[in-house]
Amino acid sequence: MSFKVLLLDNVDPVCAEVFQQRGIQADVPGKLTDEELFDRIGEYDGMVVRSGTTVTEELLKKADNLKVIGRAGVGVDNIDIPAATAKGVLVMNTPDGNTISTAEHTCGLILSMARNIPNAVAKVKSGGWDRKKYMGTEVHGKKLGIVGLGKIGSEVAKRMNVFGMEVLAFDPFSTHEHAQDLGVKLVELDELLGSVDFLTVHTPLTEKTKGMISMENADKLKKGIRLVNCARGGIFEEKDIPELLDKGYVADIALDVYSEEPPSEEVYEILKDERVVSTPHLGASTEEAQEKVAQQIADQMADALENKNYKGS
Ligand code: MLT
Repeated sequence: MSFKVLLLDNVDPVCAEVFQQRGIQADVPGKLTDEELFDRIGEYDGMVVRSGTTVTEELLKKADNLKVIGRAGVGVDNIDIPAATAKGVLVMNTPDGNTISTAEHTCGLILSMARNIPNAVAKVKSGGWDRKKYMGTEVHGKKLGIVGLGKIGSEVAKRMNVFGMEVLAFDPFSTHEHAQDLGVKLVELDELLGSVDFLTVHTPLTEKTKGMISMENADKLKKGIRLVNCARGGIFEEKDIPELLDKGYVADIALDVYSEEPPSEEVYEILKDERVVSTPHLGASTEEAQEKVAQQIADQMADALENKNYKGS
């Protein structure tokens, strides 16, 4: 009895190694067109994706042998879970392999905004020199707000505490004990928005978090706040960013994620603004994180395939 898995989205090579060590055939075909994927999916017992492949109900209809889908990462928003569940296909993710990398990227973006690093670097690279324009602000003594004090939010809190920031958080699922251990004060969302100098979000995109920052609630924000989103595109209303900046509600904004990736032309225009720091969804893009999530997902999927006593194809 042998299983076959399809590894997509440039998942780290350790993924294939783990499957092979466990006697599971792992195919790494490189980039497939939708048509090629639809043609091939029927052969596989498992598939591993990152964010590059959308697993739709149509694709699942062709996946006659599929038993498990593994997301080498956290977000499973690119997988139609109800359709997978209806078909009896297990969906797994790796909730903690990316934590440190994403937290570090968030801290990097906070410092990039505070010290104008991306614009200053671009200026020097173009042969320029402007010390006045790129005068920055210390983060020491400033307030950082964290929406979502889960794994990533907690790691951001630890790191920015060391920089001397006062850290506040909103998280209806967290406890005062957990917050206290981290040196964080839990507050209500409106209090957070109205009192912090920097705000970072670490939540999934849900009906509740979609458009959390928009012109509609701009009056709730502390004037001149700096914002970071390394979580999911859409938590900040993208089309409102120019107005939020131009009216001074927001001083700077750092984005690693977008509602569409790569972003639409309209959003690209917004990203050209000097007050916007943008990176192309790099939160989890470190060698360490990619290795961890690849290894974890392969182990979990191999366990599931073996323990469930599925009949191999
Ligand atoms: C995740 O959900 O794991 C991150 O956004 C990283 C990624 O998409 O690779």
